[in-house]
Amino acid sequence: MFERLKSVPIDPILGLMNAFKADPRETKIDLGVGVYQNSSGKTPIMTAVKKAEFALHQNENTKTYQGMTGDIDYNTHISELIFGSENSISNSDKSCTLQAPGGSGALRVGAEVIARTKENATIWIGDPTWANHIPIMTKTGLKIKTYPYYDFKTHSIDFDAMIAQLKKIPAGDFVLLHGCCHNPTGADLTLNQWSEVCSVASQTGFIPFIDIAYQGLGNGLDEDVQGLRILANNLPELMVASSCSKNFGLYRERTGAISFLCSSDVQSKIVLSHAMSAARSLYSMPPAHGALLVAAVLGDHALRQEWEKELEQVRRRIESMRKMLCQKLETNNHGQDFSHIKMQKGMFSFLGITPDQVTKLRDIHGIYMVSSTRINIAGININNIDYLCDSILDVL
Ligand SMILES: Cc1ncc(COP(=O)(O)O)c(C=O)c1O
Repeated sequence: MFERLKSVPIDPILGLMNAFKADPRETKIDLGVGVYQNSSGKTPIMTAVKKAEFALHQNENTKTYQGMTGDIDYNTHISELIFGSENSISNSDKSCTLQAPGGSGALRVGAEVIARTKENATIWIGDPTWANHIPIMTKTGLKIKTYPYYDFKTHSIDFDAMIAQLKKIPAGDFVLLHGCCHNPTGADLTLNQWSEVCSVASQTGFIPFIDIAYQGLGNGLDEDVQGLRILANNLPELMVASSCSKNFGLYRERTGAISFLCSSDVQSKIVLSHAMSAARSLYSMPPAHGALLVAAVLGDHALRQEWEKELEQVRRRIESMRKMLCQKLETNNHGQDFSHIKMQKGMFSFLGITPDQVTKLRDIHGIYMVSSTRINIAGININNIDYLCDSILDVL
């Protein structure tokens, strides 16, 4: 029977990772894969996480099933991280949070719930967006439509076009928004723009589904959720898919959550039952380890402070690499503008060169990036930035 299957194309990022691994050049640089790297090019385990892991190793006394909602403490901490610990939403029965296997698992469970709301349930996704959004949503049978997001000419959000499309979205459709550190563009909505999106949502009746995979990597832990909170404090319903892959460095532990804000306590219970039933048929129960670590860090004052400091270092390093890259490239004689990179947030930006220049960078200089020219700023460090900039200037 298996001979009936035809192989499917490998994900371009995975293909790029393999090509990078096989490249023998010592000067090679990986700007493709979406993980944080420190100034030595490593993806370290955070110290606070390591300490929590050590304590867990000493104290954990069972590996029995956790249940479909996952760890209750973790869910409470995540809800507070997103909506605010003082915010009535986190303490209200109108909201519920379910631990999920990474941000991807959270998105999938969220999409499954949307698909159950009505026949032909539709989600609107910004163009461009994270490469996995459309495959995840499509698998649930949701109808996918797109709204414009980024203007490649001005290297910024095409807000007029975005809002014009949002105004036409029918009530009951869902709209996927990036909470912060937009992947792939690095271009985030301002708070005024979030407010405008919010008033359009209340006029038209669309329901926001916010994907927040980089909380703390943009402007700060609280700062990065201000836009999301404008929506949460003013709209009756929304959904949030969150991830601890980046801000806790827990990539392989698959640690995420799906949160729902509903119009009543009763509604929230019903929605939670659907999320649990979707989870049950997809993976049954989420993996415990990462969530227990996050709950331990967020539940301990000293560990939490240590984690916040480490996260701040991550954020500052990315900011400083953005600035340095712009400084070194701004003196180019080709009239190419790279200044958008220092204004943007999080790990990604489009470099904005041509596909031919991307190929030359890889073939001649061993510098790897996806064909869209999205670069992972965290792949840059003070040891490789000169080589990187010289190589970019060479291919311009
Ligand atoms: C925008 C966005 N959402 C969600 C995710 C999912 O993250 P994970 O499933 O690794 O937690 C990512 C990961 O790169 C992302 O960039």
